[in-house]
Amino acid sequence: MEREQRIKIAVQKSGRLADNSLELLKRCGLNYSRGTDQLICFGENMPVDVLLVRDDDIPSLLAEGVCELGIVGLNVLLEKAAEGPGLTEPTELGSLDFGHCRLSIAVPRGTTYRGTESLAGKRIATSYPRILATWLSERGIEAEIVVLSGAVEIAPRLGRADLICDLVSTGSTLAANDLEEVDLVLDSRAVLVAGERPADSLRAEWVDRLVSRVDGVLRVRESKYIMLHAPRAALDEIRDLLPGSEAPTVMPLDGMDDKVAVHAVCQENVFWETLESLKRAGASSVLVLPVEKMLA
Ligand code: PRP
Ligand code: ZN
Repeated sequence: MEREQRIKIAVQKSGRLADNSLELLKRCGLNYSRGTDQLICFGENMPVDVLLVRDDDIPSLLAEGVCELGIVGLNVLLEKAAEGPGLTEPTELGSLDFGHCRLSIAVPRGTTYRGTESLAGKRIATSYPRILATWLSERGIEAEIVVLSGAVEIAPRLGRADLICDLVSTGSTLAANDLEEVDLVLDSRAVLVAGERPADSLRAEWVDRLVSRVDGVLRVRESKYIMLHAPRAALDEIRDLLPGSEAPTVMPLDGMDDKVAVHAVCQENVFWETLESLKRAGASSVLVLPVEKMLA
């Protein structure tokens, strides 16, 4: 395959999203070898290469057409989008199931916080000045935004700010710096993002394939295949108990007229409670299997 016909997907090189992003691509069937400079992984079985970059650079790489797809935090995407239009606006294709974190307001422990009004006239350190400015103006609050590109959490101790607006995931960074989370600005997670659609149809097709595989991987992670025996008389009740399944397959059981076999794909996790309810409704021989692959 010629170089030009390959597509590129940008993911975070190291940090919160890095491992999960590469893992997701592997689950999409991509085998890659890591280049010597470790900045690009060449796909071996698909014309797809992975760029390992700083997450903050991903929106621009998409806007400039350097890559066709990217995995980035919603926080980074929105902050960059608020900078104004690039060559093309990256399109968010959907949320992924990792990278959950909050962009939050945090104050030095012991500071009284009585809602957003408490922010009026304060100096707030952040790496997300645009998201924060929008959030403040929507609430009619005027405050000074101190833009820092890193180490935001130490700004109050250094006297550079009164409080901060930063990402919180486990909360350990805040705790280590004696800060307390008091308000939510943005609920964030990793999202799949696309740049401009390739004009070349082969490449466009690979973008679509990858997007649909990502979708398949996400569905599969939640999905279970469930098999059970049900008394014919309890079929309706049992069907209603199967979580997130559309139309279960009902099959006769050899030599049993009063029972049928029910097979269904549940698009949600199947919990022990569900199995217990199924049993109470008369189900027997209940098996729950993980789903390996799924194509809608
Ligand atoms: C964020 C934030 C904190 C940390 C919070 O940085 O700036 O330092 O994560 O996480 P915790 O609640 O689990 O302690 P991030 O790793 O996103 O780095 P970046 O902003 O430089 O990409
Ligand atoms: Zn970053």
